[in-house]
Amino acid sequence: MKGVILAGGTGTRLHPLTRITNKHLLPIYDRPMISYAIEALVSAGINEMMLVTGGTHAGEFLRLLGSGHDHGIDRLSYGYQDRPGGIAEALGLAEHFIGDEPVLVMLADNIVEHTFRPTVERFAHQGQGARILLSQESDPVHLRHLGVPEFDDQQRIRRIHEKPDDPPSQYAVTGIYCYSPDVFEVIGALVPSGRGELEITDVNNYYVERGAMEYDVLQGFWGDAGESIDAYYVVNDFVRQHGANKG
Ligand code: G1P
Repeated sequence: MKGVILAGGTGTRLHPLTRITNKHLLPIYDRPMISYAIEALVSAGINEMMLVTGGTHAGEFLRLLGSGHDHGIDRLSYGYQDRPGGIAEALGLAEHFIGDEPVLVMLADNIVEHTFRPTVERFAHQGQGARILLSQESDPVHLRHLGVPEFDDQQRIRRIHEKPDDPPSQYAVTGIYCYSPDVFEVIGALVPSGRGELEITDVNNYYVERGAMEYDVLQGFWGDAGESIDAYYVVNDFVRQHGANKG
């Protein structure tokens, strides 16, 4: 299984900090944010990955990560998104790198307390479709800024709602997704959303509609450090006290 780390976007929710750097280079405790996503994939057993970024600070990722060997990566590729066209469009840039292998995708502003290696192993066993990670979240105000699953009577996902006014469950869809290689065909057929972007939630709902979406619930802390300046500090405080990506 190969990995894709998505580290693009304009980071408007963290302005003015992100006027002078890429959001994923901001510090989380003692390291740039991006290094936690790298560590998360390596600790899940993935050591071939592509990092997709965009905007004006792409060179800094090379300066920080180089060949990736110092970070336990065998093969590190870089992709560049010319304009912010959405998470799914950014993933589409990895098509040739991934080839016909399954892929683990992680949004680089997501930080986890515990490794998601068990999910990667379960997806290898699953062999097709998609598998996502959910995190329990009871605060509806928080859920309104995220993707939220709606469940049927059998606790299967019926639909994922992106930034819903009225959250249909107490779970957030994290930015950690496993896909079979047909995901690139799904992306190719997407139409841009109202904000002109290819949405990852549309990709996920494609698999949901076909009964091909499985999920796991993440244990321990999960944070999206790019959601707001307050979320950024919640993540910083947590990592400083408890660490991240623990086995
Ligand atoms: C994205 C996804 C959303 C998910 C979130 C997790 O939102 O669209 O479904 O819950 O990542 O970090 P964004 O952070 O791009 O607004």
